[in-house]
Amino acid sequence: MAKIIVVTSGKGGVGKTTVTANLGFRLAALGKRVCIADADFGLNNLDVVTGVENLVVYDIVDCVEGKCRAKQALIQSPVNKNLYVLPSVHSFARAGVSVENLKELVDGLSPSFDYIFLDCPAGIDVGFRRAVSVCSQALVVTSTQLSSLRDADKVLSILRSFRLDYVGLIVNRVRGDLVADGLVLSPEEIAGVLKTDILGVIPDDDAVFLNNAGMIPAECPSARAIRLLASNLIGGKNKLFNYKADYVGFFGSIRRSLRRNL
Ligand SMILES: Nc1ncnc2c1ncn2[C@@H]1O[C@H](COP(=O)(O)OP(=O)(O)OP(=O)(O)O)[C@@H](O)[C@H]1O
Ligand SMILES: [Mg+2]
Repeated sequence: MAKIIVVTSGKGGVGKTTVTANLGFRLAALGKRVCIADADFGLNNLDVVTGVENLVVYDIVDCVEGKCRAKQALIQSPVNKNLYVLPSVHSFARAGVSVENLKELVDGLSPSFDYIFLDCPAGIDVGFRRAVSVCSQALVVTSTQLSSLRDADKVLSILRSFRLDYVGLIVNRVRGDLVADGLVLSPEEIAGVLKTDILGVIPDDDAVFLNNAGMIPAECPSARAIRLLASNLIGGKNKLFNYKADYVGFFGSIRRSLRRNL
């Protein structure tokens, strides 16, 4: 049976879809059978980020409405045969999916996968609660910005009422230069403030931003960070990406001032 994990954040635009897609790709590359499902009805973009947009035939609502079987809606990634994408509905008007509908769908897929990730919509409304209700674990993505931290804190307090097996924190878009200069909280400080286990740290990386579809290049800093995140998730280890490595010492201070003056 699969581990069923919601990727959530509260605040929008902090990297849920980016984390879901790239973590999914990485786990698939490690031989795990992975399904990434877009639970963001109406504003779906997991199909775009994973480069399968043009392969969508059926969507999640077609499954719920009985127009197709769940496996017919799954799209096998052209990049890795272990990775499947379950696309979301493209029209908000058709998004009448209940918790029971979604649970039945996810439970039906569970025997075929090692991991099922649900890419959650932003906010704490019905779409968030529906996604969390069918999962047993949660990954909360935050950036280092205070607005994102405040929303992550709210989400974490709501998640406590769902009796999940595990809740882990992913601090995304970390700027090692700003942390080294003491201008933003470090991921470790953020984990302390939010009183949550930190599972991954992902740097702010142009390679992610410029990548419109498919996998980020294997040797960029964010890809290294995703590799560590995946092995932490599989092995329960806690080796975090060294976001400060480029910004300490003499040359590091030069890089810091260059980046700040861009
Ligand atoms: N580590 C990163 N470095 C640089 N850019 C990033 C990083 N993570 C995410 N981004 C960029 O931030 C933007 C928002 O990311 P993403 O769509 O994953 O956020 P989201 O939380 O899923 O948003 P929404 O709440 O709208 O669903 C995208 O343009 C993405 O490329
Ligand atoms: Mg998203």
